[in-house]
Amino acid sequence: MNKKKKFYIKTWGCQMNDYDSLTIANILKKNKIYTDTNNYYEADILILNTCSIREKAQEKLFHQLGRWKQLKNQNPNIIIAVGGCVANQEGKKIIKRSNFVDIIFGTQTLHRLPKMIEKHNKTKKISIDISFPKMEKFKNIIQPKYPNFSASISIMEGCNNYCSFCIVPYTRGKESYRPIKDIIKEVSKLSEQGIKEIQLLGQNVNSYYHIGTSGKKYTFSKLLKKISMISKIKRIRFITSNPMDFTDDIINSYYEIPKIVSFLHLPIQSGSNRILKLMKRPYSVEKYQDIVYKLKKARPQIQISSDFIVGFPGETQEDFEDTINIIKKINFDMSFSFIYSVRPGTPASKLKDNVTLIEKKNRLKILQKQIKKQALNWSNKMINSIQKILVEKIHNINENEFIGKTENYRTVIVKSKKNLLGKIIKVNITKKNKNILHGKHIQ
Ligand code: SAH
Ligand code: F3S
Repeated sequence: MNKKKKFYIKTWGCQMNDYDSLTIANILKKNKIYTDTNNYYEADILILNTCSIREKAQEKLFHQLGRWKQLKNQNPNIIIAVGGCVANQEGKKIIKRSNFVDIIFGTQTLHRLPKMIEKHNKTKKISIDISFPKMEKFKNIIQPKYPNFSASISIMEGCNNYCSFCIVPYTRGKESYRPIKDIIKEVSKLSEQGIKEIQLLGQNVNSYYHIGTSGKKYTFSKLLKKISMISKIKRIRFITSNPMDFTDDIINSYYEIPKIVSFLHLPIQSGSNRILKLMKRPYSVEKYQDIVYKLKKARPQIQISSDFIVGFPGETQEDFEDTINIIKKINFDMSFSFIYSVRPGTPASKLKDNVTLIEKKNRLKILQKQIKKQALNWSNKMINSIQKILVEKIHNINENEFIGKTENYRTVIVKSKKNLLGKIIKVNITKKNKNILHGKHIQ
């Protein structure tokens, strides 16, 4: 019998990339000759799933490849494959600098990897495919098994927005949407496997659009409604939303669908209208505030998180202060923040960047300190409140203790003699110890 070929995947980047790596693993494992390993020393196939959203992505890639080259020197039969956003961006250039790489595949061609490996085994030739075959990837998704009652599912790919700083539209291509019947089928299957929480993934989920076979038009809010009708699914999350198309029908879903969590990641990027314009984000700070106002009317307990970029070209002290002001006004919960990073080929890369690195770092520090303070306040406010948690694990030391997550991603420990695993329960939060909340099961 043939020995199984072991593959190792190293992943950088966002949830989308994590999801892609799971898909790669499943597609390979479907063919019984492949199995995965966590130890790259014993791997026959080394796969790198890259991210290029911020700087040094190329440097990081060649650094990693340098380390893997040593493994290949010892065993020339090892196959090295590079995929993800840097692969789309750099393509053939990767081979020029690292001629020991065997396969380059793109964000939209990862499902072709088994064929590319097969071809390489036969011909020993370098194989490159970074094309954008529309929809083909979706058709090849194999749903992985999820260990903790929560699963992610991709509903769309790519982005049409071309924010001036962002590389994503160039590395993931134009938007394409998965047919609604496929999404519903997959979510139903997951719910039958015990999944209680579903997270819808896409660069821009709000712009989801699909015309069903009967000619019916499905927008994002209609998709939410359909998913909410799957009774075994108890919680719905989605990421990422762009304020530009966070329309009233989506806001109304917060009235109509209690299963949607009271937590929303809605990246504002900057609190200055002047900078938002330069970023080509087609909304104003006032429009953003209006969305949050309406959301709070629908769900008074909702918490909002965001992404922020500091030090965008031309950002003045005043612009930055506007960002701090909006952070305080919205009272954002835990958020992500980054120093602006020039991405080659993007419109912003042509703007004059006159903010010093010291100043950028200083602004980031101030911003992160403010966010941290607010997130801590949110956690403190939860003490003595009633929260719904999805119980994901049993405590690894205390058998009668269970660990769950609130809708706003806080970890809660709860004691119980009954098995609560996989249940959504109501708890009264009694105390906070470091970052962990403790609660009493009430229902
Ligand atoms: N579709 C999402 C963003 C996806 S990229 C949206 O509309 O907001 C994730 C985050 O990375 C962005 O929100 C932004 O804050 C950050 N980011 C993207 N490009 C960047 C760059 N060139 N420099 C710094 N941060 C960047
Ligand atoms: Fe990037 Fe803007 Fe799209 S941040 S992913 S171009 S919405």
